[in-house]
Amino acid sequence: MFGMYNKRMTKHLLYYICVSVGLPFMGFADGIVSLGSAVTEIIVALDAEERLVGIDDSSVLSQELSQLPQVGYYRMVSAEGVLSVQPGMIISSEDAGPPEALKKIKNSGVTVIQVPAEKTLAGTVNRIRSIGKALEAGEAAESLLKPVEERMQDPLKPLAPEPKVLFIYARGGGAPNVSGTGTGADEMIRLAGAKNAVDGFKGYRPLTPEALVTCQPDVLLMTRQGLDAMGGEKALWTLPGMQNTPAGKHSRIVVMDEVLLLGFGPRVVDAIDQLNAALKVEK
Ligand code: HEM
Repeated sequence: MFGMYNKRMTKHLLYYICVSVGLPFMGFADGIVSLGSAVTEIIVALDAEERLVGIDDSSVLSQELSQLPQVGYYRMVSAEGVLSVQPGMIISSEDAGPPEALKKIKNSGVTVIQVPAEKTLAGTVNRIRSIGKALEAGEAAESLLKPVEERMQDPLKPLAPEPKVLFIYARGGGAPNVSGTGTGADEMIRLAGAKNAVDGFKGYRPLTPEALVTCQPDVLLMTRQGLDAMGGEKALWTLPGMQNTPAGKHSRIVVMDEVLLLGFGPRVVDAIDQLNAALKVEK
């Protein structure tokens, strides 16, 4: 790890020396910028962490990765931010954006590999395979995705009774949102053997007291980061309408790390098992 850190420091030092004395810097020919936490996790799992020269803000997954330049959140990157670290290649989740920024990056001549963003087990398999191909690590990719394929063939049985789970996404000071169908959260709830408490709309909508009371969740599901952003459990249980739901009355909540829960990266099977086990306790 120290060796890797050293090589990376040398590369960056070289970049800063060239820039400060006005010499052209030819870029990190094999340097990768990774856009998306699952993408980054897969690159690390395929033993190519050393090639990373930049990551997006959702990819700060370890002390080592936190030393790398961060180029913005992958759902809203700027082309300038990404190109400022002089990458040779960008590996990006297909849902990175905005599209104009991605277009600008592609037009700059840097190789851009876009990998499937779909938040399903099949999506994880395709993501690992595409990144394995880009890194010429096909064999390692196949062994990484094997447990995911096995879970696709042998999914967990629904819990009995099936708890109704409400996922709440919160970030910064913005209003919290609840997940309808077609999201990563919806898919995780199903894969863990439970039922999404909200099935009347697709995607995310702001959390309202009416929506809370109507969907009558048995359990809430949140990310650690989201719960902190909302001010902790006390703030949650006192939201208007919350005490009129089974989850609120019995203070039932499952909290997981956001990348683990929603990333659909190489740890997705662990994430499903953890959620399933936690729901058994909370039900
Ligand atoms: C810099 C601030 C932010 C960081 C570090 C961050 C980080 C993350 C992470 C780690 C995840 C889980 C893995 C993934 O889906 O990528 C996530 C999910 C998500 N984030 Fe953010 N986020 C930020 C801001 C935002 C903002 C402003 C929005 C709204 C426009 C947003 C919308 C979402 C959505 C919709 C999901 C997916 C949930 C799902 O798949 O069900 N994020 N975010």
